[in-house]
Amino acid sequence: MMIIMLIARVLLTLAIYSHVESASVPETSEKYSCQEGSQVLKSEHASRDTDCEQSWNTESIPIGSFMSDGVECHSPCINVTAGEIIISRCINATLTVICYQAHVIEYRIHFLGIWINPLPLQNIRKRDRHGIYACLALLLLIFVLFAIRHYISQLHRIRNNGPNHY
Ligand SMILES: *[C@@H]1O[C@H](CO)[C@@H](O)[C@H](O)[C@H]1NC(C)=O
Ligand SMILES: *[C@@H]1O[C@H](CO)[C@@H](O)[C@H](O)[C@H]1NC(C)=O
Repeated sequence: MMIIMLIARVLLTLAIYSHVESASVPETSEKYSCQEGSQVLKSEHASRDTDCEQSWNTESIPIGSFMSDGVECHSPCINVTAGEIIISRCINATLTVICYQAHVIEYRIHFLGIWINPLPLQNIRKRDRHGIYACLALLLLIFVLFAIRHYISQLHRIRNNGPNHY
């Protein structure tokens, strides 16, 4: 009984602690529409916080950061500037900004990539299908060429040896 109450108290403390933790860092979500190729994620607010640490993560993996003393950029990151990252493909990424001023200010922005229309996938499928058609057409062409060659050589043989031989 004592143990259960102890566990309950620990859980309650953890719950309160995590609640306070998450409440202390304001988080917002922003949807962006994905396109084929590279994407630009931009926060007007963060672009003014040039003195702050700005780090970009995707699924908790750091992909880029902007600090007053330098930038870091790992694939799929293409370039990082204040409040902005260019990435090579559509992903969900989180920008965390920490400003060390009179007191520490921290905020997070979640960028959610949304495909407006699933066209790119269809395009790939269509391209694949075109590829198969092209291959079939090529095979057919080769077959026809061989057939013609065979036919011509048969004609030659008939002409050289006479029809009796055939
Ligand atoms: C990254 O962006 C900065 C500022 O716009 C620019 O000067 C730099 O050439 C860019 N680097 C690459 C690799 O595109
Ligand atoms: C990003 O997250 C949203 C919500 O969880 C999801 O609907 C969307 O498909 C995700 N986008 C990518 C590119 O993973």
